Amino acid sequence: MASVTFQIWRTHASGGQLQEYKTEISEGMVVLDAVHQIQAEQANDMAVRWNCKAGKCGSCSAEINGHPKLMCMTRMSDMPQDKPITIHPMKAFPVIRDLVTDVSVNYRMKKKIKKFKPRPPDAPDGTWRMAQSDIDRIQEFRKCIECFLCQDVCHVLREHQLHEEFVGPRHMVYTAALEMHPLDVEDRREELKNTGGIGFCNITKCCTTVCPEHITITDNAIIPLKERVADRFYDPLMRLLHLFSKK
Ligand code: SF4
Ligand code: F3S
Ligand code: FES
Repeated sequence: MASVTFQIWRTHASGGQLQEYKTEISEGMVVLDAVHQIQAEQANDMAVRWNCKAGKCGSCSAEINGHPKLMCMTRMSDMPQDKPITIHPMKAFPVIRDLVTDVSVNYRMKKKIKKFKPRPPDAPDGTWRMAQSDIDRIQEFRKCIECFLCQDVCHVLREHQLHEEFVGPRHMVYTAALEMHPLDVEDRREELKNTGGIGFCNITKCCTTVCPEHITITDNAIIPLKERVADRFYDPLMRLLHLFSKK
């Protein structure tokens, strides 16, 4: 057992500040355990969002010593304990209370993305045939747990607060899963360019660095989408072909 100091963001009527707590840490604890212990023993009214404690619900996102992380997947044994450990709510989103943020803008933006639209069945039994390699390509995108840590770290959303103009990395992963799906026939390039604001992404790759599911967000989702948008709108030959295909 060791006594560790935490500084946790607490809100009040006129704003918020870091408040200091000390608690005993035992072997095997993660940061979320420590927060729960503080909540149980010293701060019953502290708001913290969590659900699975297994890195799968995406609820416990926070900034631990300034790094966007899942509290339930951050081991206390990996944290330096000689100085206070700070825990902030995600800075890209408005705080509801203490560590809980309002991430509803993400769901609104997701709703604007055109849904899956499969081509007609191509097998005699009324089903489809797909190549395994095509499915493998999008498999990693399906691992997303919607923790929104990638949205939190992206400067377009975090510093510039362009939540209504830029879909952000999570939704580019979602769009890539649809666009690259071997059965999908929808075209999302125009919305990616306009309402999705894909041009705001300048490939800083911070999103890829923080993803707890290790999705290769920038290289495998965003860059291929940018290439598709560039082909559609900036390649003269492709623009001509698109014009003729609409006639
Ligand atoms: Fe979280 Fe990764 Fe999904 Fe972004 S892509 S919401 S970081 S799991
Ligand atoms: Fe933002 Fe990721 Fe692009 S952090 S700028 S969406 S590469
Ligand atoms: Fe579910 Fe942390 S509590 S991801």
